[in-house]
Amino acid sequence: MCGIVGMIGQVGTKEILLKGLEKLEYRGYDSAGIALVGENVRTFKEVGRIQALRDIVPADAEGTIGIGHTRWATHGVPSVPNAHPHQSTTGRFTLVHNGVIENDEQLKATLDVPFLSETDTEVIVQLMEKHFVELGDVEAAFRKTLSDLHGSYAIAMIDSEDQERLYIGKNKSPLLVGLGDGTFNVVASDAMAMLQVTDQYLELHDGEIVILTREAATIKTLDGEVLERAPYTAEIDASDIEKGTYAHYMLKEMDEQPAVIRNIIQHYQNENGDIELTEGVRELVSEADRIYIVACGTSYNAGLVGKDILERIAGIPTEVHVSSEFGYNMPLLSEHPLFVFLSQSGETADSRAVLVEVKKRGYKALTMTNVPGSTLSREANETMLLHAGPEIAVASTKAYTAQIAVLAILAYDIARATGKELPFDLMPELARVATIMDSIMAQKELFEDLAERYLKTTPNTFFIGRGLDASVCLEGALKVKEISYIQAEGYPGGELKHGSIALIEDGTPVIALISQPKTNLNIRGNVKEVVARGANACIISMQGVEHENDDFILPHVEPLLAPLINVLPVQLMAYYAALARGCDVDKPRNLAKSVTVE
Ligand code: M6R
Repeated sequence: MCGIVGMIGQVGTKEILLKGLEKLEYRGYDSAGIALVGENVRTFKEVGRIQALRDIVPADAEGTIGIGHTRWATHGVPSVPNAHPHQSTTGRFTLVHNGVIENDEQLKATLDVPFLSETDTEVIVQLMEKHFVELGDVEAAFRKTLSDLHGSYAIAMIDSEDQERLYIGKNKSPLLVGLGDGTFNVVASDAMAMLQVTDQYLELHDGEIVILTREAATIKTLDGEVLERAPYTAEIDASDIEKGTYAHYMLKEMDEQPAVIRNIIQHYQNENGDIELTEGVRELVSEADRIYIVACGTSYNAGLVGKDILERIAGIPTEVHVSSEFGYNMPLLSEHPLFVFLSQSGETADSRAVLVEVKKRGYKALTMTNVPGSTLSREANETMLLHAGPEIAVASTKAYTAQIAVLAILAYDIARATGKELPFDLMPELARVATIMDSIMAQKELFEDLAERYLKTTPNTFFIGRGLDASVCLEGALKVKEISYIQAEGYPGGELKHGSIALIEDGTPVIALISQPKTNLNIRGNVKEVVARGANACIISMQGVEHENDDFILPHVEPLLAPLINVLPVQLMAYYAALARGCDVDKPRNLAKSVTVE
């Protein structure tokens, strides 16, 4: 999704901005641009990759103030006119914007200027110019402009006649100020973009602006009241966001899964080997009579697995909801609901909209996220971190397994507190899961072969399973769809005969996941049904429920934790299918890593 970088203060600003934009590439974008203030403002914009932008920025373009942007189209096609930065008619103000302005049409109607783009952003910079003419003061005009906007925005603006200030504003879209060494300061929508120059950041809240100079960052409200805030250290190791020797971030991140599970064990276990959660989290869950998991995409799929674990282990009724639906169609709630927001990034706008509504109604929320200090983390009552390290690939992999492991830890802690009988010892079993994950990842080439055999040329595929396996099938189908563009369905095996089996033809690949003893015979029956109609069935099973001719037999783990293991083959098959089909694995079309618009 859109990304922002900005800098005031240094020779070499251009390169820092371009490098920053490259660090934001993983978020997904379709065009990019930068503006540099030197003797005058020079703006460069291009459709496609940052490299294409680099190619058009002349070597002599420099400036000590600059802003940059990666755009993920919402209003208008990817094109040079629609790319940011946008400039006011006189050229005095230039800005970049993330988010969606909901009243852009109404505002446009009040302005008598030509609009050169289809974006909702251009109206902001034209409005700025109008207010500046009326008020004669840049900061006052900036504050007035932001007060007129309805919707979400993160904005960085430069004034061509002032080389001493950068103007920043935020509402419902992420934006951080990075503090330099006294000779420069920066701004970015994601700390990763500016880790190259600083690890000290100031968190911004909605409805705040910042006047950034080389030496200082002054935070103010839209009424002009000055606010004090201490910086924090971004605890991201810059090497974590490098690909190293891997061909793709997705491959690196799949490979990291055993280490992530070990990391989670270490963070949530005390020296006696007992699960240790904060008192805050324990208090929150102890008050709940029902859990509502709210999430999107892969996080939603992890939530489905979490529901089964929470209900079976902790005995607490749990519902799982897609954020974009839940926000507008809230079901009847129990008397003491606890909302659990699952989000790798902690910035997903659909989930955040629900959190705002939940808080308005006076309910409590727990966020499980991979990003400390993210919006969903800050705004919830409590946070449980995933400790998975930065996830860069658009296709989420290690966050999925991390979320399931952390949900299992929560379930076990609730069960312990309420005196429930525990079916197995969780932490040692998670440690075994990590070892088994290692062994699966060491056999990658087998899944490359399966992807070649079943997915390389097919236009469509089904993933089928029962119970927990059916939840993993949804994740398998999502992975295949998003990176290899194959039409894929994840289905409970028994449901196929109620309609979708009509799609099975000669050679349709059907990938069956079989790990649950209770439904082993049922799913095998479902496989026979599709094979009888011509399907090309690939069976991935687990020791204990295996048949001799299955395509791959996974080592046995406790059935409740099987999703942690059988998701690996489907992640790997999706990855190798995308490679075989010539797709751009880490930057799939139309997608963004962090979806910060509703
Ligand atoms: O950051 P989040 O976990 O809130 O993101 C939710 C989804 O956008 C995300 O899981 C998406 O579905 C992934 N690209 C799937 O691989």
